[in-house]
Amino acid sequence: MIGRLNHIAIAVPDLEKASAVYRDTLGARVSKPLPLPAHGVTTVFVELPNTKIELLHPLGDKSPIAGFLERNPAGGVHHVCYEVGDIAAARDKLKARGMRVLGDGEPKTGAHGKPVLFLHPKDFCGTLIEIEQA
Ligand code: CO
Repeated sequence: MIGRLNHIAIAVPDLEKASAVYRDTLGARVSKPLPLPAHGVTTVFVELPNTKIELLHPLGDKSPIAGFLERNPAGGVHHVCYEVGDIAAARDKLKARGMRVLGDGEPKTGAHGKPVLFLHPKDFCGTLIEIEQA
């Protein structure tokens, strides 16, 4: 069902510093910060040859990653995103297996303008999973 790893998202307390680590220390190509008010985050995209890393920083006072950063003040891996061909079919298959889909179960438009859903970390080895229709 799942295909390519689309991205790994890392929540960071200092976007400037995290960008510098990826750009200057690790030598990766790093985008400018992109505010995504609808998602409550500012994102920096790190382009790797085979996938992306997304550095996430809270934006606004109801950011979905604020609590995570409170629990992980140094930052940490927030979620991994896998591509699926048909997100509604993937959701139905997962739900039929008793997996928990977060929110109302309806795909939302993600940071890349494509439909996404999030899956409960307790059902997936302690990792928050995003599926994105590729
Ligand atoms: Co993501």
